[in-house]
Amino acid sequence: MSPLIHVDPLHPQVELISQAARILHAGGLVAFPTETVYGLGANALEANAVEKIFKVKRRPSYNPLIVHVNDVAAALPLVRRWPADAEKLGDAFWPGPLTMVLPKRKEVPNIVTAGLDSVALRVPAHPVALALLELSKLPVAAPSANRSTQLSPTTAQHVEKSLGDEVDIILDGGATILGIESTVVDLTGNRPVLLRPGIISCEELQSILGDIDVPEKTIQEIAPRLSPGMLDRHYAPHASMVLFDPEKLGGVRDIIEKEQAKGGIVGALLLTSFDLPLQHPIPMPLNPLSYARLLYASLHSLDDLGCTQILVEKIPNGPAWAAISDRLKRASRQG
Ligand code: TXA
Ligand code: MG
Repeated sequence: MSPLIHVDPLHPQVELISQAARILHAGGLVAFPTETVYGLGANALEANAVEKIFKVKRRPSYNPLIVHVNDVAAALPLVRRWPADAEKLGDAFWPGPLTMVLPKRKEVPNIVTAGLDSVALRVPAHPVALALLELSKLPVAAPSANRSTQLSPTTAQHVEKSLGDEVDIILDGGATILGIESTVVDLTGNRPVLLRPGIISCEELQSILGDIDVPEKTIQEIAPRLSPGMLDRHYAPHASMVLFDPEKLGGVRDIIEKEQAKGGIVGALLLTSFDLPLQHPIPMPLNPLSYARLLYASLHSLDDLGCTQILVEKIPNGPAWAAISDRLKRASRQG
């Protein structure tokens, strides 16, 4: 039987959220919508419950989880320090798509943080997620609700497709609004470091914090606590994915021909309309927020259509596109 339950995304029904809260207290797994992507949640204070997340996702134990809390007051008991930068960022962006990495207290089980001395915290801006945190009165460890390295889910159906009945309940609150994962910023050192770009851009963080480091420059320095997702192929569809430059269409025609000659199916995410023999072209919006919202959903649907090769037209440069560029690069990484 499907564990999927419809919840009103704006006014979540208390009895349904209470049912999910009871599952968390009993050590079970609850998939729930946030404003970014769906999360796979467990009681963050219960190592056995958190272990189930790693099992179901087939997530390597070295990759730490994000802990979701209701508000700053619920974050404080989990950290040893609450620096001025955290206060400023919390004021500016919580609830919202920002995750802060801070020195952890021992009450946070090591399995949550993959043995690191820091914990990643976020207050999600979604009524269903907030209701679950409020009613359960628990910090909830939740990575994206997909198998490790695969596409993140932006609908409850994506969760069901990926994890099926290995989850105790899936709260279906419809499609998520932002569509890509939160910005992750590390506040454990002397200077803040951007670990994962997201909808909240580096420029927005800088406007609150002053200078912040970009990871490429500091990769050696932060390697021991670097988000492992930054190095691996990640957020990837089943099909192999290639980014292409519309100036060099000749190469693209070759790829399409070769793929189709061996019986493959070619899909594409396009900003321009081209005269190419694609089986499944998807027009994408030339607006970064709309593009982000549709990105994973479009890749999921190309997977569902059986595409073996996905071509993605190069996106514009610039800060507003940085997070999308990051996800596209990682999804198209080989191996
Ligand atoms: O939008 C999101 O952030 C979604 C929703 C569900 O909240 N969650 C999400 O979680 O994307 P996940 O587990 O897929 O990504 C968490 C990222 C990983 O890159 C992980 O390595 C990093 O955060 N991370 C977690 N704890 C960390 C820590 N203590 N130090 C450095 N990076 C950490
Ligand atoms: Mg993930």
